Amino acid sequence: MMKRRLAILLSGRGSNFLAIHDAIEAKRIPAEIVLVVSNRLGAPGLERAIELGYETRTIDHRGYESREKHEHDVIVAIELAGVDLIILAGYMRLLSEGFVTRFANRILNIHPSLLPAFPGVDAQRQALEHGVKTTGCTVHFVDAELDGGPIILQRSVDVRDDDTAESLSARILEQEHIAYPEAIRRVCSVPFRVEGRRVIFENED
Ligand code: GRF
Repeated sequence: MMKRRLAILLSGRGSNFLAIHDAIEAKRIPAEIVLVVSNRLGAPGLERAIELGYETRTIDHRGYESREKHEHDVIVAIELAGVDLIILAGYMRLLSEGFVTRFANRILNIHPSLLPAFPGVDAQRQALEHGVKTTGCTVHFVDAELDGGPIILQRSVDVRDDDTAESLSARILEQEHIAYPEAIRRVCSVPFRVEGRRVIFENED
């Protein structure tokens, strides 16, 4: 099978990036990471990408006079690298409508809740404060709405009575590290169609 070319966009820790890296190394995903972009100099995820020998770009948004100009340079880097899929892995920048339309159904994101519950920042704390008994994580295609695109895969996590935002986040993160590689594997290797909001994969068997 042809390897799909991935760009990873991150801003911080990069644990999802590393889970994806591990899955590719273990040949569980028919893909290769051809570019890692960070909007933050010194982000731990970026440092790790450099150590691992990946092609990296730091495109610091603070050096730009507008969102559009920053995004333009990110798009140029992605286009130059010849990327099939863009993987948002803790990338803390909103993408404009132009960006998401250009790469429709080719940008993936992971969010630490069962969407459409608790979009936006601090999803784990929102879940705890709302008192839900089950939360989890969602991998979805990115559209112009915040955390709003068609859902590829979800994994649930039970909330415990003694959970704090930290303990709940840690258990959700374990599931993220399973969900994200699995979702990318499916998108790379199983034919699918998007009908309205539904992502329908052909039977794998
Ligand atoms: C994860 O919780 C992810 O769901 C959210 O940002 C966090 C990124 O963590 N979008 P990491 O940088 O992958 O460790």
